[in-house]
Amino acid sequence: FGVTAGVLAQSYVVGTNASFPPFEYVENGEITGFDIDLMKEIAALKGFEVEVRDISFDSLIPGLASGSLDIVAAGMTITADREKVVDFSDPYYSANQSVLVHQDSDNNLTVLYGNHDIGVQTGTTGDTWVRDNLVEPEVMTGELRNYDSYVFVIRDLANQNIAAAVLDKPVAETYSKNNPVKVVAEIITGEEYGIAVQKGNQELLTQINEGLAELKANGTIDKLIEKYFD
Ligand code: ARG
Repeated sequence: FGVTAGVLAQSYVVGTNASFPPFEYVENGEITGFDIDLMKEIAALKGFEVEVRDISFDSLIPGLASGSLDIVAAGMTITADREKVVDFSDPYYSANQSVLVHQDSDNNLTVLYGNHDIGVQTGTTGDTWVRDNLVEPEVMTGELRNYDSYVFVIRDLANQNIAAAVLDKPVAETYSKNNPVKVVAEIITGEEYGIAVQKGNQELLTQINEGLAELKANGTIDKLIEKYFD
């Protein structure tokens, strides 16, 4: 009773921000999506367990640094700045940025170059892109509006409280299926998503990379792409 043979599986805390469909989102109160399935598959292969936590995107890297998170699976782009503080797995998905507007809007890419308010998720590459290319050179004269959750970016765009949002294209396209918003431009940033661990946690990183390689080779990644993208 209560005593079983074998050892307890190691359990890791995985941080994400579940407002990024189809990579991570909340459905019927559950955190689900491509990244969540991917982490569960890696965990099953490597014999560990995962507990997923939904927190704000800009708290993910600090969470790894402080040790409150073991892994970040959040459609997170591998960047040189982030690589100074965390270690990334091999890339598992490629994406660009995009410009999302209200479906009834006549705006196109030029919406970025004028007196319009633009929404981004705080701490994302979209946020950085707008700061570096529009705010600092004083190209945009509207406001840069920062949000913790893309759910509220999309709500404000649907209500026309903001004129545009800059976010990863696969996610913008997913939101445009069920919301009155449309993608009007792609910004070629050539990003690659990686799974992040605390800097120096080579043991866990190796397990994740081995898991990823196996899931690529055995067709599981392709199946997940089919499941989450049509
Ligand atoms: N790829 C972008 C970045 O790394 C956006 C990621 C947002 N992810 C999320 N789960 N909300 O900055």
